[in-house]
Amino acid sequence: MVLPMYMLHDYMEDRDGELFIDGMAVAEAAERFGTPLYLYSEKRMRENYRRIHRAFSSRRRNFKVNFAVKANNNLTTLNILRSEGSGADCSCPAEIMLAKMAGFRDDRLLYSGNYNSDAELRYGLESGAIVNLDDGPLLARMLKFGRPEVISFRINPGRGQGKYEGLVFAGPDAKFGMMEEEALKAYRFARDSGIGRFGLHMMSGSNVLDPEYFPAITERLMEIASNIASELKISFDFIDIGGGFGVPYQPEERELPIEEVASAVVDSYEEKTGGALGDPTLFIEPGRYLVCDAGILLARVTHVKRAQKTFVGCDAGMNTLLRPALYGAYHEIVPAQRLGDDRTLGANVTGQICENSDIMGRDRHLPDLDEGDLLAFMNCGAYGYSMASNYNTRVMPAEAFIAGGRLQLTRERETMTDFLRRQIVPPELMRDAQ
Ligand code: LLP
Repeated sequence: MVLPMYMLHDYMEDRDGELFIDGMAVAEAAERFGTPLYLYSEKRMRENYRRIHRAFSSRRRNFKVNFAVKANNNLTTLNILRSEGSGADCSCPAEIMLAKMAGFRDDRLLYSGNYNSDAELRYGLESGAIVNLDDGPLLARMLKFGRPEVISFRINPGRGQGKYEGLVFAGPDAKFGMMEEEALKAYRFARDSGIGRFGLHMMSGSNVLDPEYFPAITERLMEIASNIASELKISFDFIDIGGGFGVPYQPEERELPIEEVASAVVDSYEEKTGGALGDPTLFIEPGRYLVCDAGILLARVTHVKRAQKTFVGCDAGMNTLLRPALYGAYHEIVPAQRLGDDRTLGANVTGQICENSDIMGRDRHLPDLDEGDLLAFMNCGAYGYSMASNYNTRVMPAEAFIAGGRLQLTRERETMTDFLRRQIVPPELMRDAQ
């Protein structure tokens, strides 16, 4: 097995220049289900879950993983992770519904919204999920509908870290969470309203590859938690340190040493537990770490333009995978059936969207590609499909899994009929109205 391009993971193979995943040619999936297509490996998702779960649970008995549904909302993904023992971190009522459909038990659902409407607060309360509020006054609004048994608040620990500016979720500019003083007021109000059980949460940034960050920010959160616990004489059922565990997308990046991270995080965590804080369950809520490298995006080259620069156009654009346009994010792009070919072409890879930011990869070295060649975008299992859109009246892509050793379609490509179903043209404006 030769792995000429760094981003082929060890569950992928180069068989005579063709990309295989779990023993299946990815070209077969593109043939059967068309492109653009998201293709995921069940096996890799399970491995990712087991690796991070083992890293923490071998060091702390009181520990749970809750998958962040926003990263990949395919019901097959949810079923796989639920069967591994994961809970679900949901950002809105629709994600709670999805998680319930996938069989997550109510007590394994967390609802971490922000800027919630009354209807959402009520849904959260009645859904049986543990509600994690992003601002103190949201609780008073929720109490109009009833009193939850347990409540959690999202803390802004004062600083955050993320691979791109848009992925920093804490610190002075963040729209999320509460600084310590506000949090203290919120927990006091909750306690005085008769709520008896508490959780505490943060989500301070995404795609972090710096192993030192996690114990440092956990230490900060635990300081805040223990100040609140001793001031208010309350203890916590759980403390949730969020997700953010990064994966490498680029040649110079290294994998997060998850064992080392888990060990240091548990040390920081346990320095403060016991005493006033009680013995809260440690929660993490990874999205990317569980699913990112388990998915690729397959696209066909539609046209190669040799102009002032060379542009390789394909049928996946910012409508299919938004990350490059939104964050300038890097995704490795490989020619799925010409892995061994000399990479003589320097090109920008682009989609078919009428925006100049619709660039999927800049100055990439690729073989001399032709129309119909198959491209694979690596690391597309997280925030790929879930951020896709209908922009330029493009239908939503299909999703498939290699599961149980077979290729299986798990979400059909949207059709124009689906797209038109919800449109209503006022009768007097119909084409043939007089
Ligand atoms: N928990 C909460 C409350 C979150 O908001 C998120 C992600 C997660 C957990 C999971 O974070 P992860 O482990 O995946 O870093 N669209 C961006 C990522 C935004 C993440 C938003 N929140 C991207 O494409 O990189």
